[in-house]
Amino acid sequence: MSGLIPQGFIDELLDRTSLVELIAARVPLKRSGTNFKACCPFHKEKTPSFYVTPDKNMYHCFGCGVHGDAISFLREFDNLSFNEAVEELAKASGMEIPRQPGELKQLQQTRVTQDALELAADFYEQQLLQHSQSEHARAYLAKRGLNQEIIARYRLGFAPPQRNNLAPICLPEQFSALVEARLVSTEYGPPFDLFQNRIVFPIRNTRGKTVGFGGRTLGNDKAKYINSPDSPIFHKSNEIYGLFEVYQQKRKIQQLLVVEGYMDVVSLAQFGIDYAVATLGTATNQDNLTTLLKHSRHLVFCFDGDSAGFNAAIKAMRNCLPLMQDGVELRFLLLPETEDPDTLIRKEGKTRFDERVQQAKPLSSFFFEVHSQGLDLSIPEHKGALKERASADLAHIASPTIRSAMKEQLHQLTNTWAQRKQGDGKNGSWKNNKDKKSYTPPAPPAEVIPVKRQRAQCICLALYFYPEKAAQFAEKLSAITDADEFTQALAFANFLRDSDISDTQTLLCTLTQQSKPRETFYNLFDGIELIPAKEAALHEAEELLARFFQQQRKNQLIDKQMLGPLSDAEKDELKSLSN
Ligand code: UTP
Ligand code: MN
Repeated sequence: MSGLIPQGFIDELLDRTSLVELIAARVPLKRSGTNFKACCPFHKEKTPSFYVTPDKNMYHCFGCGVHGDAISFLREFDNLSFNEAVEELAKASGMEIPRQPGELKQLQQTRVTQDALELAADFYEQQLLQHSQSEHARAYLAKRGLNQEIIARYRLGFAPPQRNNLAPICLPEQFSALVEARLVSTEYGPPFDLFQNRIVFPIRNTRGKTVGFGGRTLGNDKAKYINSPDSPIFHKSNEIYGLFEVYQQKRKIQQLLVVEGYMDVVSLAQFGIDYAVATLGTATNQDNLTTLLKHSRHLVFCFDGDSAGFNAAIKAMRNCLPLMQDGVELRFLLLPETEDPDTLIRKEGKTRFDERVQQAKPLSSFFFEVHSQGLDLSIPEHKGALKERASADLAHIASPTIRSAMKEQLHQLTNTWAQRKQGDGKNGSWKNNKDKKSYTPPAPPAEVIPVKRQRAQCICLALYFYPEKAAQFAEKLSAITDADEFTQALAFANFLRDSDISDTQTLLCTLTQQSKPRETFYNLFDGIELIPAKEAALHEAEELLARFFQQQRKNQLIDKQMLGPLSDAEKDELKSLSN
């Protein structure tokens, strides 16, 4: 939607923006000498360590290390993209962003479409309260246990049974937009609406703008649900139903529960589970998954307890493998037969449902369970079959650490000697499928594990504090061949080295003044919750690289071991690496 915004424009925009005013509108600020301070909006604290410096138009938190300008503040606080943050600031200071002619037109068109969809959402919402035939719609929602607050939170609406409701209420340009969004069809003569006699679920993007709809029939339509088709502003695989509503409830998302249906999301929220979202349509593809992981690195996938649900879970699991980075935690919750989240939470209530979520199987357990389906691991040939089935999939796991840990698990499962030593290996969650019913889930963790800093981020933090060490880090990082997770850290190190940045102050100035490095490297520090002291950051980064090279060696040996026996020296080495 947007081309490159000239740096000169951004500089002027930042000059014209009062950072103090911008932040004060969102966080209560107190004067402190020439600065202003507040409790940091980006981490939990009781005494203020978040400072805004009007002279420099910058903010900095001494507690967690966040820092930046008006653009980074809006990105973090209002969850905007770089371009959206610039648009927001430009609007506030009455500046017009320089655009290419074609771009401007497209932008206007998007706005018209967005307004038209908002108009439709308002309309459906009102009809639920006002339409002369809305009684049965309200009764239906009441029957499904939804109260006013939840109906309002999700902006549920009612599409009246008449064929043509929308056309009469909109302006000509809005009408064309609704036709383009296929909410109204003109294909067979007079216009008619896509949604008739349905409960309507507006699908909002993370900024709260309606981009599409889902509708559940209130009658006997063959299609129980229909959804807005894809359009220039609505791409099903990029939108997550319910995500905006989760953000309205919490600023920081600990985990997301991913369910299949609109009604499941709303019903869970009604019962107090306010972290559920749904992918649109049934497939959990790589696009949805990537979008989900941008918002939370801890996902629990919940699938209906029928064979379709099980198959969908397997498909999701496969699609997840290339996204398994360190720090990403994905788990699978398979519901009892004939239940979906909506029916189950009604029966069991929040506490029991939360317990189920806590006990959801880690991807690794589910992985071996799936691959051992139909196998009896006391039969040597079946061990072979498991190894063959699992090995190819294991290769897709992104994180070398997780991959090698799972390879070790596979090795244990298929290695008779190791298994006997462990008490015949029948206690795992991957035991053969015949007695799947007796699977006992592992004990729930004592508390939710906080998101750890990614390894690449540790390195970037060290570089942030010690840019003068960039060359040294660049050399080490470029020796890593099989891990994409460090690509950006390497780019950052190269950038610091090549631009001769040798202290943090210069680095900050560069990032503030130059948009290219800012756009490239700002996100390296996204989502860091705790910033260690300078020296600790360096130490941590050096340690983890040393560990990484050890792990790399260990992986080589494990891979080798899968192919044939190791020499004694190699065995010793592997043993010492495993301690
Ligand atoms: P389900 O058929 O499992 O419905 O579809 P549900 O969520 O339990 O709905 P209720 O409880 O009967 O109201 C799950 C999801 O699959 C898509 C929708 O996104 C729905 O939320 N779906 C289902 C369709 O797109 N079309 C359909 O005809 C059915
Ligand atoms: Mn249902």
